[in-house]
Amino acid sequence: MTIRAVVRGVGHYLPERVVENAEFEATLDTTDDWIRSRSGIERRHFAAEGETTSDLAARAAGAALSDAGLTAGDLDALIVATSTADLTFPSVATMVQDKIGMVTGFAFDVQAVCAGFIYALANAQALIASGQASRVMVIGAETFSRILDMTDRGTCVLFGDGAGALVLEAAEGAGTPADRGILATDLHSDGRHRDILYVDGGVSTGTSGVVKMQGREVFRHAVEKLAATAHAALAKAGLGEDDVDWIVPHQANLRIIKATAQRMGLPMERVILTVQDHGNTSAASIPLALSVGKHDGRIRQGHLVVTEAIGGGLAWGSVVLRW
Ligand code: UT7
Repeated sequence: MTIRAVVRGVGHYLPERVVENAEFEATLDTTDDWIRSRSGIERRHFAAEGETTSDLAARAAGAALSDAGLTAGDLDALIVATSTADLTFPSVATMVQDKIGMVTGFAFDVQAVCAGFIYALANAQALIASGQASRVMVIGAETFSRILDMTDRGTCVLFGDGAGALVLEAAEGAGTPADRGILATDLHSDGRHRDILYVDGGVSTGTSGVVKMQGREVFRHAVEKLAATAHAALAKAGLGEDDVDWIVPHQANLRIIKATAQRMGLPMERVILTVQDHGNTSAASIPLALSVGKHDGRIRQGHLVVTEAIGGGLAWGSVVLRW
């Protein structure tokens, strides 16, 4: 018998304001055509003034709880993956705990930038498999619009705000690849590359800073590393690329997503794509895509889903789960 973390509910929240690519043409030397052709992004959502990461996360958490048919009191733990916490501390997770009325259990943040949701899923699986928690809410939530330099055309057109959440629940499996739940995880980081994607603020500067990125370099690492980590996670699960129903990738760039699917030998019909509508929402992009794919009827019980992401650190990884 093997204890697995099985998805019981999923939900998401996007801020009301939609920003089309054309809006940037008024203030920057850029075009809708450049943004679409280089990144696949057509629009993104930006949070309203005063709307914080914990606000978005709490809305997504509420949607996931209602999808699961549970209340906040049914959760043992709550993990938020984010790089855009409302404050330096306390954690966004404890703020969400309060906002959804969860007064028991424990809550903490995970910070692995765009790979944050992958790292948070691995944490949730470990808590559940070790018996420390039976039900864990895992949220990816970001307000990247707060840390963008709106004069830097190389970054500000790429990112957006949003939140997605999963409720994971302990279930007994046979210990085979046919089990439902998280079957394998594969995590990596390499701090030697920290300078190609970072925010130039924090407690050492007294400012919250803005995103700085050497896009071409990050692109190169992404294409090299994402298919490899997905392959490694599948191998750990005793599965191969042919077994995959859905790739749910981090939604940073359509060209990276296509290159990864191609390296995995899988057609784009097997990929859940949201990058065109959400932009890059960092740790929120995978749970947003999972929620979209589940609620439009594509991801169904029993499907094999592979998620993969890379971002600042560099930190990257993959999770294989059977829905
Ligand atoms: O989520 C975390 C992980 N992040 C990523 O995965 C992002 C990875 N990188 C990328 O997605 C791509 O590298 C970008 C979309 C950021 C850029 O695409 P690219 O094909 O790598 O373009 P580039 O950076 O090589 O720039 C090509 C040209 C440059 O001009 P020159 O030097 O060739 O004259 C840029 O200055 O495009 C220029 N450029 C722009 N032009 C119009 C850069 N940004 C813009 C813009 N509009 N917004």
